[in-house]
Amino acid sequence: MQIIKVKNYQEMSDKAAKLLIEQVSLKPTSTVCFATGSTPIGMYKNLILASNNNQVDFSKMLTFNLDEYIGLAPEHSQSYQNFMHKQLFDQINVNSQNIHFPSGVGDITQNIENYNQVLENYSPLDFTILGIGTNGHIAFNEPGCDFESQTQLIDLTNETIQSNARFFDDINDVPKQAISMGIKSILNAKQIILLASGKAKAQAIYDAIKGPYTTKCPASALQVHGNVTFIIDEEAASLL
Ligand code: F6R
Repeated sequence: MQIIKVKNYQEMSDKAAKLLIEQVSLKPTSTVCFATGSTPIGMYKNLILASNNNQVDFSKMLTFNLDEYIGLAPEHSQSYQNFMHKQLFDQINVNSQNIHFPSGVGDITQNIENYNQVLENYSPLDFTILGIGTNGHIAFNEPGCDFESQTQLIDLTNETIQSNARFFDDINDVPKQAISMGIKSILNAKQIILLASGKAKAQAIYDAIKGPYTTKCPASALQVHGNVTFIIDEEAASLL
Protein backbone atom coordinates (compact mmCIF):
# COMPACT_ATOMS: atom_id res chain seq x y z
CA MET A 1 0.00 0.00 0.00
CA GLN A 2 1.36 3.38 -0.98
CA ILE A 3 0.19 6.54 0.77
CA ILE A 4 0.64 9.90 -0.93
CA LYS A 5 -0.16 12.80 1.38
CA VAL A 6 -0.90 16.06 -0.39
CA LYS A 7 -1.78 19.51 0.86
CA ASN A 8 -5.32 19.95 -0.33
CA TYR A 9 -8.09 18.93 -2.75
CA GLN A 10 -6.40 20.55 -5.74
CA GLU A 11 -3.11 18.70 -5.19
CA MET A 12 -5.03 15.43 -4.73
CA SER A 13 -6.85 16.04 -8.02
CA ASP A 14 -3.62 16.93 -9.84
CA LYS A 15 -1.78 13.83 -8.62
CA ALA A 16 -4.67 11.50 -9.42
CA ALA A 17 -5.14 12.90 -12.93
CA LYS A 18 -1.40 12.60 -13.59
CA LEU A 19 -1.43 8.89 -12.66
CA LEU A 20 -4.35 8.13 -14.98
CA ILE A 21 -2.85 10.16 -17.84
CA GLU A 22 0.38 8.18 -17.43
CA GLN A 23 -1.59 4.93 -17.51
CA VAL A 24 -3.55 5.83 -20.67
CA SER A 25 -0.46 7.25 -22.39
CA LEU A 26 1.42 4.01 -21.78
CA LYS A 27 -1.56 1.85 -22.78
CA PRO A 28 -4.20 3.68 -24.87
CA THR A 29 -6.59 0.70 -24.62
CA SER A 30 -6.56 0.81 -20.81
CA THR A 31 -9.63 -0.48 -18.98
CA VAL A 32 -10.49 2.12 -16.35
CA CYS A 33 -13.13 2.00 -13.64
CA PHE A 34 -14.47 5.40 -12.53
CA ALA A 35 -16.16 6.58 -9.35
CA THR A 36 -18.83 9.23 -8.96
CA GLY A 37 -19.31 11.57 -5.97
CA SER A 38 -17.75 14.93 -5.13
CA THR A 39 -14.22 13.67 -4.57
CA PRO A 40 -13.07 12.87 -8.15
CA ILE A 41 -14.65 15.95 -9.80
CA GLY A 42 -11.39 17.94 -9.58
CA MET A 43 -9.47 15.02 -11.06
CA TYR A 44 -12.00 14.83 -13.91
CA LYS A 45 -11.61 18.58 -14.57
CA ASN A 46 -7.87 18.00 -14.99
CA LEU A 47 -8.49 15.11 -17.38
CA ILE A 48 -10.77 17.34 -19.49
CA LEU A 49 -8.10 20.04 -19.58
CA ALA A 50 -5.40 17.54 -20.58
CA SER A 51 -7.67 16.11 -23.28
CA ASN A 52 -8.49 19.56 -24.68
CA ASN A 53 -4.77 20.37 -24.78
CA ASN A 54 -4.07 17.11 -26.65
CA GLN A 55 -1.87 15.88 -23.82
CA VAL A 56 -3.73 12.57 -23.75
CA ASP A 57 -5.93 10.58 -26.11
CA PHE A 58 -8.89 8.77 -24.52
CA SER A 59 -10.35 7.46 -27.79
CA LYS A 60 -9.29 3.86 -27.16
CA MET A 61 -9.83 3.79 -23.39
CA LEU A 62 -12.57 1.44 -22.13
CA THR A 63 -14.58 2.74 -19.20
CA PHE A 64 -16.49 1.03 -16.41
CA ASN A 65 -18.22 2.42 -13.34
CA LEU A 66 -18.51 1.18 -9.80
CA ASP A 67 -22.19 1.62 -9.20
CA GLU A 68 -25.62 3.01 -10.07
CA TYR A 69 -28.78 3.82 -8.13
CA ILE A 70 -31.70 1.42 -8.45
CA GLY A 71 -34.68 3.00 -10.23
CA LEU A 72 -32.85 5.90 -11.88
CA ALA A 73 -32.74 5.70 -15.66
CA PRO A 74 -29.53 6.91 -17.37
CA GLU A 75 -31.25 10.20 -18.33
CA HIS A 76 -32.26 10.98 -14.71
CA SER A 77 -30.41 14.08 -13.51
CA GLN A 78 -29.02 12.23 -10.46
CA SER A 79 -28.18 8.91 -12.08
CA TYR A 80 -24.50 8.07 -11.94
CA GLN A 81 -24.46 7.53 -15.67
CA ASN A 82 -25.70 11.09 -16.16
CA PHE A 83 -23.09 12.32 -13.66
CA MET A 84 -20.25 10.66 -15.59
CA HIS A 85 -21.43 12.10 -18.90
CA LYS A 86 -21.71 15.62 -17.47
CA GLN A 87 -18.54 15.58 -15.39
CA LEU A 88 -16.26 13.76 -17.83
CA PHE A 89 -17.33 11.60 -20.73
CA ASP A 90 -19.08 14.32 -22.77
CA GLN A 91 -16.01 16.53 -22.50
CA ILE A 92 -13.26 14.12 -23.53
CA ASN A 93 -12.85 12.07 -26.69
CA VAL A 94 -13.95 8.77 -25.15
CA ASN A 95 -15.78 6.55 -27.64
CA SER A 96 -19.40 6.10 -26.46
CA GLN A 97 -19.22 2.42 -27.47
CA ASN A 98 -16.42 1.93 -24.96
CA ILE A 99 -18.52 3.05 -21.97
CA HIS A 100 -19.86 0.31 -19.66
CA PHE A 101 -22.28 0.84 -16.80
CA PRO A 102 -24.26 -1.33 -14.40
CA SER A 103 -27.95 -0.65 -15.06
CA GLY A 104 -30.30 0.24 -12.21
CA VAL A 105 -33.54 -0.14 -14.17
CA GLY A 106 -35.42 -3.18 -15.49
CA ASP A 107 -34.55 -6.73 -14.44
CA ILE A 108 -31.93 -6.16 -11.73
CA THR A 109 -30.99 -9.85 -11.40
CA GLN A 110 -30.28 -9.93 -15.12
CA ASN A 111 -28.41 -6.60 -14.95
CA ILE A 112 -26.17 -8.00 -12.19
CA GLU A 113 -25.40 -11.06 -14.28
CA ASN A 114 -24.71 -8.91 -17.36
CA TYR A 115 -22.33 -6.59 -15.53
CA ASN A 116 -20.44 -9.47 -13.92
CA GLN A 117 -20.07 -10.93 -17.41
CA VAL A 118 -18.76 -7.62 -18.80
CA LEU A 119 -16.24 -7.37 -15.96
CA GLU A 120 -15.17 -10.96 -16.51
CA ASN A 121 -14.67 -10.33 -20.23
CA TYR A 122 -12.26 -7.50 -19.48
CA SER A 123 -10.74 -8.98 -16.33
CA PRO A 124 -8.52 -7.75 -14.78
CA LEU A 125 -9.26 -4.03 -15.21
CA ASP A 126 -6.10 -1.94 -15.47
CA PHE A 127 -6.93 1.01 -13.25
CA THR A 128 -9.69 1.74 -10.73
CA ILE A 129 -10.50 5.05 -9.06
CA LEU A 130 -12.21 4.96 -5.66
CA GLY A 131 -13.64 7.46 -3.22
CA ILE A 132 -14.50 6.49 0.35
CA GLY A 133 -17.65 7.04 2.41
CA THR A 134 -17.51 8.53 5.91
CA ASN A 135 -18.47 5.03 7.11
CA GLY A 136 -15.57 3.46 5.17
CA HIS A 137 -17.65 2.23 2.24
CA ILE A 138 -16.10 1.77 -1.19
CA ALA A 139 -18.45 1.81 -4.15
CA PHE A 140 -21.66 1.00 -2.26
CA ASN A 141 -20.19 -1.80 -0.18
CA GLU A 142 -21.38 -0.77 3.25
CA PRO A 143 -20.05 -1.88 6.68
CA GLY A 144 -20.78 -5.57 7.23
CA CYS A 145 -20.52 -6.36 3.50
CA ASP A 146 -19.09 -9.58 2.13
CA PHE A 147 -15.44 -9.29 0.99
CA GLU A 148 -16.03 -12.15 -1.49
CA SER A 149 -18.84 -10.32 -3.31
CA GLN A 150 -19.14 -9.49 -6.98
CA THR A 151 -21.69 -7.12 -8.51
CA GLN A 152 -24.76 -7.10 -6.30
CA LEU A 153 -27.90 -5.32 -5.12
CA ILE A 154 -27.20 -3.22 -2.02
CA ASP A 155 -29.47 -1.66 0.60
CA LEU A 156 -27.98 1.75 1.33
CA THR A 157 -27.42 2.66 4.99
CA ASN A 158 -29.13 5.70 6.49
CA GLU A 159 -25.71 7.37 6.76
CA THR A 160 -25.15 7.01 3.01
CA ILE A 161 -28.70 8.14 2.16
CA GLN A 162 -28.27 11.22 4.35
CA SER A 163 -24.84 11.97 2.93
CA ASN A 164 -26.11 11.69 -0.66
CA ALA A 165 -29.27 13.72 0.01
CA ARG A 166 -27.29 16.88 -0.84
CA PHE A 167 -27.66 16.02 -4.52
CA PHE A 168 -31.47 15.65 -4.37
CA ASP A 169 -34.31 18.16 -3.75
CA ASP A 170 -35.69 16.00 -0.96
CA ILE A 171 -34.12 13.22 1.12
CA ASN A 172 -37.12 11.04 0.25
CA ASP A 173 -36.05 11.17 -3.40
CA VAL A 174 -32.72 9.43 -2.63
CA PRO A 175 -32.94 5.81 -3.84
CA LYS A 176 -32.71 3.25 -1.04
CA GLN A 177 -30.83 0.69 -3.09
CA ALA A 178 -27.98 0.53 -5.57
CA ILE A 179 -26.31 -1.93 -7.90
CA SER A 180 -22.64 -2.00 -7.03
CA MET A 181 -19.45 -3.83 -7.86
CA GLY A 182 -18.54 -6.00 -4.91
CA ILE A 183 -15.28 -5.97 -2.99
CA LYS A 184 -13.94 -9.01 -4.86
CA SER A 185 -14.61 -7.40 -8.26
CA ILE A 186 -12.98 -4.13 -7.13
CA LEU A 187 -9.87 -5.87 -5.79
CA ASN A 188 -9.47 -7.68 -9.10
CA ALA A 189 -8.08 -4.48 -10.71
CA LYS A 190 -4.34 -4.35 -11.39
CA GLN A 191 -3.98 -0.86 -9.94
CA ILE A 192 -6.27 1.02 -7.56
CA ILE A 193 -6.15 4.62 -6.40
CA LEU A 194 -8.32 5.85 -3.55
CA LEU A 195 -8.88 9.59 -3.17
CA ALA A 196 -9.97 11.35 0.01
CA SER A 197 -10.17 14.98 1.00
CA GLY A 198 -11.44 16.76 4.09
CA LYS A 199 -11.84 16.13 7.82
CA ALA A 200 -15.07 14.18 7.40
CA LYS A 201 -13.03 11.36 5.82
CA ALA A 202 -10.26 11.27 8.47
CA GLN A 203 -11.73 8.45 10.60
CA ALA A 204 -12.57 6.29 7.58
CA ILE A 205 -9.04 6.78 6.22
CA TYR A 206 -7.55 5.87 9.60
CA ASP A 207 -9.69 2.73 9.81
CA ALA A 208 -8.90 1.73 6.22
CA ILE A 209 -5.12 2.09 6.60
CA LYS A 210 -4.30 1.59 10.28
CA GLY A 211 -7.35 -0.30 11.50
CA PRO A 212 -7.90 -4.06 11.36
CA TYR A 213 -8.83 -5.90 8.17
CA THR A 214 -12.53 -6.07 8.86
CA THR A 215 -15.87 -5.86 7.07
CA LYS A 216 -16.76 -3.14 9.62
CA CYS A 217 -14.61 -0.89 7.41
CA PRO A 218 -15.06 -2.07 3.78
CA ALA A 219 -12.06 -0.02 2.61
CA SER A 220 -9.78 -2.07 4.89
CA ALA A 221 -10.17 -4.82 2.25
CA LEU A 222 -7.65 -2.80 0.21
CA GLN A 223 -4.92 -3.74 2.73
CA VAL A 224 -4.44 -7.07 0.94
CA HIS A 225 -4.20 -5.57 -2.58
CA GLY A 226 -0.70 -5.44 -4.03
CA ASN A 227 -0.97 -2.15 -5.92
CA VAL A 228 -3.15 0.38 -4.16
CA THR A 229 -2.31 4.06 -3.67
CA PHE A 230 -4.15 6.31 -1.23
CA ILE A 231 -3.98 9.96 -2.34
CA ILE A 232 -5.18 11.92 0.65
CA ASP A 233 -5.03 15.54 1.69
CA GLU A 234 -3.84 16.87 5.06
CA GLU A 235 -7.30 16.90 6.61
CA ALA A 236 -8.19 13.38 5.50
CA ALA A 237 -4.78 12.21 6.80
CA SER A 238 -5.10 14.08 10.09
CA LEU A 239 -5.69 10.98 12.27
CA LEU A 240 -2.91 8.85 10.77
C1 F6R B 1 -19.47 6.56 -5.96
C2 F6R B 1 -18.96 5.68 -4.93
C3 F6R B 1 -18.96 6.08 -3.49
C4 F6R B 1 -18.25 7.41 -3.24
C5 F6R B 1 -18.24 7.74 -1.76
C6 F6R B 1 -17.62 9.11 -1.49
O1 F6R B 1 -19.38 5.95 -7.24
O2 F6R B 1 -18.59 4.61 -5.25
O3 F6R B 1 -18.32 5.07 -2.74
O4 F6R B 1 -16.94 7.32 -3.72
O5 F6R B 1 -19.55 7.74 -1.26
O6 F6R B 1 -18.44 10.09 -2.02
P1 F6R B 1 -17.97 11.61 -2.11
O7 F6R B 1 -16.81 11.65 -3.03
O8 F6R B 1 -19.15 12.36 -2.64
O9 F6R B 1 -17.59 12.00 -0.71
